[in-house]
Amino acid sequence: MTFTCPAPEDTLALGDALGRAARPGLTVLLQGPLGAGKTLLTKGIARGLGIPGWRYVTSPTFAIHNQYQGRLTLHHLDLYRLGDGGELEGVGVEEFLYGRDICVVEWPDSFFAELPSDRLWVRISGDADGDRVVRFQGDGETATAVLAEMLAHLDNEGG
Ligand SMILES: Nc1ncnc2c1ncn2[C@@H]1O[C@H](COP(=O)(O)OP(=O)(O)O)[C@@H](O)[C@H]1O
Ligand SMILES: [Mg+2]
Repeated sequence: MTFTCPAPEDTLALGDALGRAARPGLTVLLQGPLGAGKTLLTKGIARGLGIPGWRYVTSPTFAIHNQYQGRLTLHHLDLYRLGDGGELEGVGVEEFLYGRDICVVEWPDSFFAELPSDRLWVRISGDADGDRVVRFQGDGETATAVLAEMLAHLDNEGG
């Protein structure tokens, strides 16, 4: 499923629909170059989850992990700094990665094997000069169900 997001508000709205559709145990893997809108989409997810401080969701590049409370608990991971040889274990992610919380992961590429196989892929292409194209693909029961519900939300809104 592919969407074109000409404006930041479009990316935010997509994330919002995803946040509203999110179910316990959802893992979202966010791919795309620097500045593509991964963190902005995460802000939208936070808004859709009813997190009061969604506006303050920022890239946790220096923290690796941030946590927010809404309808469900949101864990926002940015694994960029862990690099290729890094250890996901040291971050303590096992505590929540396979539980009922929502995990959104920026820069997951070096850690595919350690992340849940039930995963919703979100791939953002394009950059500062062009429209963002956002592709969704659900692998697994939870991710597939969430994606279907997200699309239903967007359909109902005529978007
Ligand atoms: N269509 C768009 N979708 C997403 N972001 C956009 C768009 N147009 C411009 N931007 C801007 O690009 C930047 C994306 O930043 P960010 O979400 O932090 O990217 P990333 O986390 O992928 O590095 C924001 O400043 C945002 O306002
Ligand atoms: Mg980011």
